[in-house]
Amino acid sequence: RHVTDLAGRHVVVSAGGTREPLDPVRFLGNRSSGKQGYALARTAAARGARVTLLSANSALPDPAGVDVVPVGTALELRDAVLKAAVDADAVVMAAAVADFRPAVYAPGKIKKKEGGAEPEPLELVRNPDILAELSGARPRAGQVVAGFAAETDDVLAHGRAKLAAKGCDLLVVNEVGERKTFGAEENEAVVLGADGSETTVPYGPKETLADTVWDLVAERFPE
Ligand code: C5P
Repeated sequence: RHVTDLAGRHVVVSAGGTREPLDPVRFLGNRSSGKQGYALARTAAARGARVTLLSANSALPDPAGVDVVPVGTALELRDAVLKAAVDADAVVMAAAVADFRPAVYAPGKIKKKEGGAEPEPLELVRNPDILAELSGARPRAGQVVAGFAAETDDVLAHGRAKLAAKGCDLLVVNEVGERKTFGAEENEAVVLGADGSETTVPYGPKETLADTVWDLVAERFPE
C-alpha cells in the first residue's frame, strides 16, 4: 500500500489502558494491550501523517517515526489529549479509560487490618469522559473525532446510543471475545458514523481495521 493520503495531517491516537493508583504499589486497571492503538499509529504514519501517540501503560515498542507521549492515569491522558488536539486534524481514542478512580490515593502502602478485620470499602469517584469532552469542544475547526467501544451484548444498539451520547463522528464498536479485542492480534468491528453510516470490518489483523478507520476519517476531513 503506497498511499500518502494523510500527508500534511496531524493525527492524535490514544492507546493502552489507564491505571488509577490506590497506593504506591497498587492500581485499578484493565486488559487493554495497546495493540489496536499502536496499529492505528503505525498505519497513519505509513500514510504520511504526523502522529502523536498517547500511550497509557502499553508494553509495546515505540513505532518508528511517531511522537510517543507516555501517560498513566485518565486525568493525565485528558491533559495530554487536550494539549495535543489543539492542532490535530483528527483524534482517535483507542485507549481504554477508567471510568472511575479511587477517591483517595494513599501515599504509603495500604496495610492489612490488625487481627484479620474486614477491609474498608473502596470509595471511587468518576473520571471525566475525555471523548465526550473533546467531541463537544473541537479545539480545531473541522476536526474529526473517533472513539472505540467494547461491548458484550446488543453491540450495535449500544454502539449507536454511545455514539450519540459522546457526540463523536465515528465509533468503532467491537465485541469483547476470546480471540479478539483485548490482547489479541486480530479484531472485527463495525464502524458507526454520526451520519448513519455503518462499515463492517471482518475478522482480521488490527492493521486492517486501522486502515479502514483512517479511510473513514479522511473522508470526513473538510474541503
Ligand atoms: O463509555 P465507554 O468507556 O465505553 O467509551 C469508550 C470510548 O470512550 C473510548 O474511545 C475511550 O477512549 C473513551 N473514553 C474516554 N474517557 C472516559 C471513558 C472512555 O475518552 N472516561
